[in-house]
Amino acid sequence: MTRMPDARTKAEATPVTDTDTMVAYINGKATPIIEGETILDLLRRNMGPDPVPTLCDAPNLEPFGSCRVCSVEVALQADGPGRVMASCHTPVAQGQFITTHSERMKRLRKNIVELVLTNYPTEQLKTEDHGANELYNVVQKIGFDIDSVRYPKGALPLDAAGADRAFASDTTHPYMVSNLDSCINCYRCVRACDEVQGEMVLTMAGRGFDSWIAKGTGESFKDSDCVSCGACAQACPTSAITDVFKSKETVADRIVRTVCTYCGVGCNLKCSEG
Ligand code: SF4
Ligand code: SF4
Ligand code: FES
Repeated sequence: MTRMPDARTKAEATPVTDTDTMVAYINGKATPIIEGETILDLLRRNMGPDPVPTLCDAPNLEPFGSCRVCSVEVALQADGPGRVMASCHTPVAQGQFITTHSERMKRLRKNIVELVLTNYPTEQLKTEDHGANELYNVVQKIGFDIDSVRYPKGALPLDAAGADRAFASDTTHPYMVSNLDSCINCYRCVRACDEVQGEMVLTMAGRGFDSWIAKGTGESFKDSDCVSCGACAQACPTSAITDVFKSKETVADRIVRTVCTYCGVGCNLKCSEG
């Protein structure tokens, strides 16, 4: 687990003298910013790849800002009041005072993840492949016991499934599989299908706790227009959508970068051998 630098108080901010450089202050330290980057980009450039926990963010997708686990406090003065903002989709701006690990932010992140876990099979979370499950990794990073969630359990998506969700648990397709009990409604699969593949097979149906990922107009993976590209499985932070080979859980002996020859687009691929 990446050890986070201790959060410094806003009063410890150290101003820079070069007035031509645009800066923001990360935990009190003046840091040059790049126009157009998000607060999360800035944090990653300066604190390493994992500065704050994230769930709905994915490296190859547009920022979405739905889970709020990446929230930080942003103030406009060193001693000013901080507003809570999702770092993954908030543009960084000159003179922001960004606090990443205040007690308030730690409490907020824990609270959000506890709420996610009320609707998640936590027994399964303890036993499945933790390397591939980002929710488990976020729980570890925030640092609390999965059994200590303070809120009562809600119905799991498959328990609540009606006829309209007949394919929430779906093994009809030769390559793609879904088990939406493990879905945390992050939209990463929907966005991957739209943004990466341009197929728009997946949508979020329903509202609130009654939401689920639907394929096409509520059909199975097999009957939908899915072209088996696997982008949704790659994007899914849990095991809610996977491929039949469980590729994300496979530790490769060798990875080769190549080009897909399926259609004329020529997408870059990494092929694993293991
Ligand atoms: S595997 Fe199918 S559903 Fe998933 S992203 Fe590709 S086309 Fe969309
Ligand atoms: S199936 Fe996976 S990627 Fe899609 S919303 Fe659920 S958890 Fe997120
Ligand atoms: S990772 Fe930023 S809102 Fe989800």
